[in-house]
Amino acid sequence: MIFRQTFDSTSSTYTYIIASRSGGEALIIDPVLEKTDQYLRLLDQLDLRLVKVIDTHIHADHISGISELKDRTKCITIMGEHAPADVVSMKVKDNEKIKIEGIELISIYTPGHTDDSYSFIMNDRVFTGDTLLIKGTGRTDFQNGNPYDQYNSLFDRLLKLDDKTLIYPAHDYKGEMVSTIGEEKKYNPRLQVSSPQEYAKIMNNLNLANPKMMDIAVPLNKGESISEENQKKLIKELNISEDLEKKIKDRWNKKI
Ligand SMILES: [Fe+2]
Repeated sequence: MIFRQTFDSTSSTYTYIIASRSGGEALIIDPVLEKTDQYLRLLDQLDLRLVKVIDTHIHADHISGISELKDRTKCITIMGEHAPADVVSMKVKDNEKIKIEGIELISIYTPGHTDDSYSFIMNDRVFTGDTLLIKGTGRTDFQNGNPYDQYNSLFDRLLKLDDKTLIYPAHDYKGEMVSTIGEEKKYNPRLQVSSPQEYAKIMNNLNLANPKMMDIAVPLNKGESISEENQKKLIKELNISEDLEKKIKDRWNKKI
């Protein structure tokens, strides 16, 4: 199997490139728009053909690369069925199989961070999006997040997986790249609770600032348009690179 974990240092996002063999089909999970050229270069060097790309949920902290990857490779874009209409070409339900040559993923609906959050199991590992992070869990205070739903997704779904299951999250802010269900059960401070109420109390008192990119990333990732006046205002406020500004404008133009 070919398994690559790449990192976007601006949003601390992990992206996964998966294939069963060189010369075969590939799948990408949670790509970041600015890194599209890097993914395509890597696919080319590994002699892989991108056929499917998945977002675990509508991201608020970065602009997803799925639409640009679709435009440039004609791959199928996938999200869970709770994602807003028209952002992807294929939607999956809970417990559905996603296949590429020699690889099979199983979707699990794990709401809580957002109401459209999915995780994906592949053999000995699980891609947890922002539902279960390494020694943390994804915030639940926007995009229809709900700490009680997240508690159920964690305790009734993800933590029921075998203790040896490898965890590959969508982000890490401290440099850890992989964990296991067993380690997280023991050492993740958010999981050391005895009731949904106790978990919700922790999550409701985090008082986190909104992600810097949120006002641009969420509408773009949902496929919603923004007025030209608002676009200018947001880009000015963000102080982003020329390259990213160009990519954002390009995506906006394609939405309209
Ligand atoms: Fe997220």
